[in-house]
Amino acid sequence: MSSRKRVLCIGLVCVDMISVVPEFPEEDSDHQVKDYYWQRGGNASNTASVLALMGVAAEFYGTIAKGHELHFLQNDMEEFGILSENCVTYGKGHSTPVSIVIVSGKTGSRTILHSNKSLPEIRVDDFQKLDLKHYSWIHFEGRQNCEAIQQMLLCIEEYNKTASKGDTVLTSVEAEKPRRPKTDLILNHSDYVFISKEFARDRNFDTKESAVKGMLPYIRPGATVICAWGEDGAAASTGDGELFVSHTFPPVLVVDTLGAGDTFNGSCIYALNKGHSIQKAITLGCKVAGAKCGLKCIKDLK
Ligand code: ADP
Ligand code: FRU
Repeated sequence: MSSRKRVLCIGLVCVDMISVVPEFPEEDSDHQVKDYYWQRGGNASNTASVLALMGVAAEFYGTIAKGHELHFLQNDMEEFGILSENCVTYGKGHSTPVSIVIVSGKTGSRTILHSNKSLPEIRVDDFQKLDLKHYSWIHFEGRQNCEAIQQMLLCIEEYNKTASKGDTVLTSVEAEKPRRPKTDLILNHSDYVFISKEFARDRNFDTKESAVKGMLPYIRPGATVICAWGEDGAAASTGDGELFVSHTFPPVLVVDTLGAGDTFNGSCIYALNKGHSIQKAITLGCKVAGAKCGLKCIKDLK
């Protein structure tokens, strides 16, 4: 096993079935698509892709259903150089989460219809089997299992108390979907908290700046809140209230915004894990996410 410390991304891997249409269709109409393809998706798995492309020893950790999509997902992770050996597989009665994605050729917008019928999330006892010594950073996609994620973050806090200096683990969490239960439980146990525009708006913040400032009471002392805001770039605020902002770096043509947020998160984690400043991290995040918007796939960032 390589002695290089890994960045672990915990959350969803799914199949994205993407149809590219000239423009977003009307209900009950019939169209010929410009392009159709399958792609590995899921926030944590996309973030792992970006990290792997940037040369990081990236690992994805999540649940996967046994079935014909399993090999597609595992092979794709292997092609990217993403480790997935610790993933938990579920058999009979479980199916792979799938997203039907409509990408508009006109605007690059992505409309996601996600289906996750039965696949359980990673449990605390699964997580406790990992050897935390292998990791420099662990990123959690906040999903339906925030109580369990909180326990996992507490395990990392305990581990860090006795780990030697070079062995401690930094953590980040992503709060993306507003309606997920108990998200607040994970916000104050992590070093970096990524919130989405959708999450911020649901809490009545109408700018990235007000969102990162307004979320400070929910995070732990010394931690940092980061918020990407689509075409308005991104902002971050450190615990002492200092504000950092980056504008966007738009491509010549916006082709496909699918995974822009995951690309932003992965690039920020890349920079911070290397010890760069938060200003450098959000600027790199906007640069790489902007480049992704000009491309069909995350893979094309290579
Ligand atoms: P999500 O994919 O979660 O909806 P956002 O829309 O907030 O994510 O986008 C994440 C980042 O991607 C933004 O901070 C920005 O830097 C970049 N981005 C998104 N849309 C565009 C765009 N149309 N042009 C340039 N950059 C963009
Ligand atoms: C993009 C994405 C897709 C996936 C969906 C799940 O951010 O991760 O790859 O289908 O979101 O919500």
